[in-house]
Amino acid sequence: MTELRDRIIIFDTTLRDGEQSPGASLNVDEKLTIARQLARLNVDVIEAGFPYASPGDFEAVQKIAQTVGEESGPIICGLARANRKDIEAAAKALKPAAKGRIHTFIATSDIHLKHKLKKTRQEVLAIAEEMVAYAKSFVEDVEFSPEDAGRSDPEFLYQVLERAIAAGASTINIPDTVGYTTPSEFGALIRGIKENVPNIDKAIISVHGHNDLGLAVANFLEAVKNGARQLECTINGIGERAGNAALEELVMALHVRRQYFNSFFGRPAESEEPLTQIDTRQIYKTSRLVSNLTGMFVQPNKAIVGTNAFAHESGIHQDGVLKHKQTYEIMDAQSIGLTDNQIILGKLSGRHAFANRLKELGFELSETELNNAFLTFKAVADKKKEVTDWDLESIVNAEIQQPPEIFRLELVQVSCGDRARPTATVTLRTPTGEELTDAAIGTGPVDAVYKAINRVVNVPNQLIEFSVQSVTAGIDAIGEVTIRLRYGDRIFSGHAANTDIIVASAHAYINALNRLYGALHKQKSQSETPATPVAQS
Ligand code: KIV
Ligand code: ZN
Repeated sequence: MTELRDRIIIFDTTLRDGEQSPGASLNVDEKLTIARQLARLNVDVIEAGFPYASPGDFEAVQKIAQTVGEESGPIICGLARANRKDIEAAAKALKPAAKGRIHTFIATSDIHLKHKLKKTRQEVLAIAEEMVAYAKSFVEDVEFSPEDAGRSDPEFLYQVLERAIAAGASTINIPDTVGYTTPSEFGALIRGIKENVPNIDKAIISVHGHNDLGLAVANFLEAVKNGARQLECTINGIGERAGNAALEELVMALHVRRQYFNSFFGRPAESEEPLTQIDTRQIYKTSRLVSNLTGMFVQPNKAIVGTNAFAHESGIHQDGVLKHKQTYEIMDAQSIGLTDNQIILGKLSGRHAFANRLKELGFELSETELNNAFLTFKAVADKKKEVTDWDLESIVNAEIQQPPEIFRLELVQVSCGDRARPTATVTLRTPTGEELTDAAIGTGPVDAVYKAINRVVNVPNQLIEFSVQSVTAGIDAIGEVTIRLRYGDRIFSGHAANTDIIVASAHAYINALNRLYGALHKQKSQSETPATPVAQS
């Protein structure tokens, strides 16, 4: 326990709270891919989902527990409301994990008690105590959260926390559920808990916070100064409403400013020992993976991982950086895994060189993935003389993020121009192996392609987001297309990369349609034993 208080525990909730972002829903395989990358990032805890919420969530937590939750891996955590059914589902899903944690919660603010739970403070106290003890009967590691702690009466909070710790909670997590507090208030709340909960030394203090006022990271750093030692955060700050505190911002703040924070950990100011165990060189890759799979675009000026975060536009800045990097740079781009974008491969490079470079970049591909990625690389290298590390990353990400193939794009052909009506012809291979061709006219080439695909696939949906990003500079750059489409009340994302953005757009659309089809198929096969999805908080 003492050793854990000497550093920060990073609890990643991208797969639970992050997945609650509107439209960010991920399938089981995608969650597994992210969980593996979170393990490479070396997070301490992965909150893998809310097992009682849906069969998909249960399966994802169970698979992550089986495959990523080995002894040397991270703790795998499942969320559960403070009731027996939720706790039993979490315990069952977490069973395969070497280190499983149940995270149970109940609201403590008067506004939640009165309007949501319709319970008295005494009732909430009793439930918290009983359910922590119940969770403890399944696993050794239990975390308890008083939801909406930021707006709860501190005196009541102290009582609930004391009872939860006495019942066996080894982590108590303080959520600013609605992102309402300011940094000094949040710091004072943590200090108050340290000073007024008699058995607080038996638990780690954790914080969880939302970004409604853009203060989540600042709040957490103030909490750290006042004794919080676990931070609950998400990649790219995704999450409910305005999102959660961003992992990359917290980790890099604690890394770049460690001399400032060292004294709060009883370390000499000049100590170089990291305050977290995160492998910061995995940050950029993890950010891109989460953005591509969730379809949640990262704004260019986003701290740490935005495309402009290390770009210097003004002449004065460029001149300064050329003379001495640190004039305008407080951290090195390589520290978050942004390579120097070296030109390593070209069209004469063989499979061996390709595989080697991918290994150096930290990608682990199956034989089939490697073969497919190599074919794409060859096609790109034919069109583009120089293939950079960023191009390689884009090719590989597009390959490993493919949902199971249902429809396959065999051909796309477009004619457009200022004197032509944009017309597209597509050929798709259908799930039965048939090849179907159709054509359509649209307002532009992408619209024409999507209309032609719709004529073949015939699943009514609404395209709600379409974005194109170039991977590197230059006219021959690879373009990445990310789209999101709505089907009923569900949102599906698609992502693809190609030197031709019309081809990338077609593949991204097929990618999203395959996800949609996969989900419909799964829903159909589960319809005999449906689980009632529950609202998450
Ligand atoms: O925001 C919140 O309060 C939560 C809890 C379940 C920890 O997500
Ligand atoms: Zn939350």
